[in-house]
Amino acid sequence: MKIIICGCNGKMGKAIAESVKKFENFVVVAGVDINHSEKNEFPVFESIEQVNLPADVVIDFSHPSALSSVLTYSKKNKIPAVICTTGISCEQIEDIKKAAHNVPIFYSRNMSLGINLLLELAKNATRILGENFDIEIIEKHHNQKIDAPSGTALMIAEEISETLNNNTKYVFDRTQSRLPRSKNEIGIHSVRGGSIPGEHEIIFAGKDETITLSHHAGSRNIFALGALRAAEFIYVQNPGLYSMKDMIKNS
Ligand SMILES: NC(=O)c1ccc[n+]([C@@H]2O[C@H](COP(=O)([O-])OP(=O)(O)OC[C@H]3O[C@@H](n4cnc5c(N)ncnc54)[C@H](O)[C@@H]3O)[C@@H](O)[C@H]2O)c1
Repeated sequence: MKIIICGCNGKMGKAIAESVKKFENFVVVAGVDINHSEKNEFPVFESIEQVNLPADVVIDFSHPSALSSVLTYSKKNKIPAVICTTGISCEQIEDIKKAAHNVPIFYSRNMSLGINLLLELAKNATRILGENFDIEIIEKHHNQKIDAPSGTALMIAEEISETLNNNTKYVFDRTQSRLPRSKNEIGIHSVRGGSIPGEHEIIFAGKDETITLSHHAGSRNIFALGALRAAEFIYVQNPGLYSMKDMIKNS
C-alpha cells in the first residue's frame, strides 16, 4: 500500500514513517510538509497538490490549514484519506462529510484502540452513574500541542453528553464564576508539559465515592499503528465517512 504522509516532518509524521518500516505491505511514496528542513527517505512536497506519484491512501497528521487541500486532492484523485489532525472546526467537519460522498474518508480524533475502549467504558459508567455523579475530564499533553482541550477530551465529552440526552454544559474555566458546581456540568481541564504523548482521565465523583477511568499513551506508536490499520481498512471501502467505531465493528 502506497502512502502519502501529510505532516511528514512532525512528531506523528515521523512516527508513521518509522512504523511503516516494520511492515512489508506499506511504503511511503511521498510526504507533504511546509517544513523542509528534515532529511527524508522519500520525496517531500510543500503542498499535496504538487504530489505527482501514484498513491493508495493519504494519512494526515498535520494542521487544520492543510485539510482543504487534502480533501480536494483525495476527491480529485479518488484516493482515500485518513484524517487524524485535531482542532478542526465545525465548518471543516462539514467539508469532510461532503468529501466523503465521493471518496472514502476516515476521521478520528484518537487513533488508539485503548481510547476507543475507554469511550465505551465511559458511556457505560455514565448510564449507570450519570444522574448522581459529577463528571470531570482531565487531559494532559506535551508542551508543543497547540489545541486545547484535546480532540479526544471533546470526543469523550460528546459521547457522555449524548448518553445524558445532551442535557449537559461543558465548563472549561472555573475562574469566571463564584458558584457551586451545577448538576449538568461536564468539567474539561487541560494540562500541558514536557513530552507527555497523551493522558485522559474521566472522574465520576459521587457522595463518598469516586470512580476514575483513565488511559495513558506510552508512546506515539499507538496512534501510528492505528492510522496504518485505518489505511488498510479504508482502502477497500466505498465512499463514505468512517471512524474507529466502524473499524472495530468490522475487525
Ligand atoms: N488522531 C490522533 O490519534 C492524533 C494523535 C496525535 C496527534 N494528533 C494530531 O495530529 C496533528 C499533528 O500532531 P503532531 O504532534 O505530529 O504535530 P507537529 O506539530 O509535531 O507536526 C505537524 C506537522 O505538520 C506540518 N504542517 C503544518 N501546517 C501544514 C500544512 N498546511 N501543510 C502541510 N504540513 C503542515 C508542520 O510543519 C509539522 O511538521 C495535531 O493536530 C495533533 O493534535 C492526532
